[in-house]
Amino acid sequence: MLRVVVCVSGGGTNLQAIIDAVKSGEITNVELAGVISNKYGVKSLDRAAAAGIEGCVVSPKDYADREEFNKAFLEKVSGFKPDLIVLAGFLLKIPEEMVRVYSGKIINIHPALIPSFCGMGYYGLKVHEKVLERGVKVTGATVHFVNEGMDEGPIISQKAVEVHDDDTPETLQLRVMEEAEWKLLPRAIDDYANGRIAMENGRCVRKV
Ligand code: GAR
Repeated sequence: MLRVVVCVSGGGTNLQAIIDAVKSGEITNVELAGVISNKYGVKSLDRAAAAGIEGCVVSPKDYADREEFNKAFLEKVSGFKPDLIVLAGFLLKIPEEMVRVYSGKIINIHPALIPSFCGMGYYGLKVHEKVLERGVKVTGATVHFVNEGMDEGPIISQKAVEVHDDDTPETLQLRVMEEAEWKLLPRAIDDYANGRIAMENGRCVRKV
């Protein structure tokens, strides 16, 4: 069984999709070892508690500077002895040291078709606001391995989602979640846990 730690910052609908997929057997060979939030009082922590998963907070506010926080965050993650770290709506940049220690073992979900609408400043609802501002007709979601860059790691999977003329950022966000995110992320975790994908030489390779 693979030990999986999920990092979150907010509502945790992607976390819930993972929890549900483990319960239903859609994800196999996975034990959800812990949930780490960088914010206090978020719904993700309630979701973890309701599922009987250990939840905890490591907040930058509790540390003198980012370096101290990064150290504490890495320590907390490592305490769970994870085989895979899943960023499910985790809105902080992963420290470089952590990327080195867990190379090929961190995956992230991004609510757009990378390399569009990603990088600095593109997170959560902001992504969908920019998509609507630009007027593109198709957006989607991407699951990728995490490297030192911002949304630059090897792509595991992507799914396109239509943008409607009358969309608001909120309606678009929900459609991207329902049609893409909540399916792609559990599937990628199951693929990883069962040895069907891996990061090799800076690419995602699929093993049949
Ligand atoms: C999700 O849409 C996720 O893709 C996005 O934040 C949202 C979190 O929602 N992540 C990013 O923007 C990362 N750059 P959730 O807490 O309900 O899963």
